[in-house]
Amino acid sequence: RKKVWLDCDPGHDDAIALLMGLYMPEIELIGVSTVFGNTNATDTYQNAVRLLHAFAAPAHITAYPGAVKPLIRAARIDAEIHGAHGLGGTEGLAAFDHEEVQVRHQAAGAKGAVQAMAEAFRAVQGKLTLVSTGPMTNSAALFSAYPELVDKVESVVFMGGGVGLGNRSPVAEYNILCDPEAAQIVFDLPIPKVMVPLNVTHTAIFDEDAVTQLVTRAHPTSAHVSLDSVPTSPLRHTLYTLIHFFASTYKAVFDFDGPPIHDAVAMVYVARPELFEARRYRVDVELAGLYTAGETVVDLWDYRKCDDSWGPTGKNILLTEKLDVPKFIDLFLECVDKADKV
Ligand code: BDR
Ligand code: CA
Repeated sequence: RKKVWLDCDPGHDDAIALLMGLYMPEIELIGVSTVFGNTNATDTYQNAVRLLHAFAAPAHITAYPGAVKPLIRAARIDAEIHGAHGLGGTEGLAAFDHEEVQVRHQAAGAKGAVQAMAEAFRAVQGKLTLVSTGPMTNSAALFSAYPELVDKVESVVFMGGGVGLGNRSPVAEYNILCDPEAAQIVFDLPIPKVMVPLNVTHTAIFDEDAVTQLVTRAHPTSAHVSLDSVPTSPLRHTLYTLIHFFASTYKAVFDFDGPPIHDAVAMVYVARPELFEARRYRVDVELAGLYTAGETVVDLWDYRKCDDSWGPTGKNILLTEKLDVPKFIDLFLECVDKADKV
């Protein structure tokens, strides 16, 4: 099993990445850190703790709070997509309001994300995979403080960027736009990086059919199930609530029929890379553009004649270009089946 550390900003799709990290058999999730992003850093941390509880994660898996702002720029948050506290729609859900949430919270103690990551990375037998589904501020700080830790990392798999495509500016994707300097620091690390861009995640749509399956799989004998009235497990109820909210904001803002489950795609890459097509390119972040700050600039035609290293002179990123979407949705539903039995 691949050991994975998840650095995230939950966030509806971060939540699903977490669930899949916990329940895909190929992955052993060893820890979670949080960063400002979809909402402020206090909320993303508390959301992660709540989700670990709601998803019945083993007690030794804790979340650690990280960066409250980008390295250089001012923090921005994305209430339009994820609600005022990052997990819009879940307010008042029973699974999110339990003593154990406090217990997990206390277990993390006063340790911050960078310290917790450094300790966990050092302690790991062999290497781990770092999955990044938010702004890359924690990772940039970690490897700037402890550059030797790159030797413990097999790869960094991140959801972020786009090829000529943005979602929070004409050409910038949100995670990269939040902290472009941090992203460039990570892009230059001398280790494999796998990019899961908007071009791929916008195909990973959780459509009506998937929603129906999510709700009805718990009731294999019922012929007609109303999505609004079906009594379902607390877990399915939580996931349905998350997806329903996320779908409504994606409809309102982007006119999508179903939300793209961006971050879970990065987690699935770790477990099932054969479900993807991918190629290596030089990728950098536009740090100064008047209209293009935060764009990921992909050298599709190798104009810069980069070498084969993963660092600053090389084709530094394996860019995913295509995903087997039906298998991705199946994997998610299988994870829900498993989690439902815990
Ligand atoms: C990314 O930004 C956030 O809205 C999501 O959680 C995802 O990580 C998509 O651009
Ligand atoms: Ca995210």
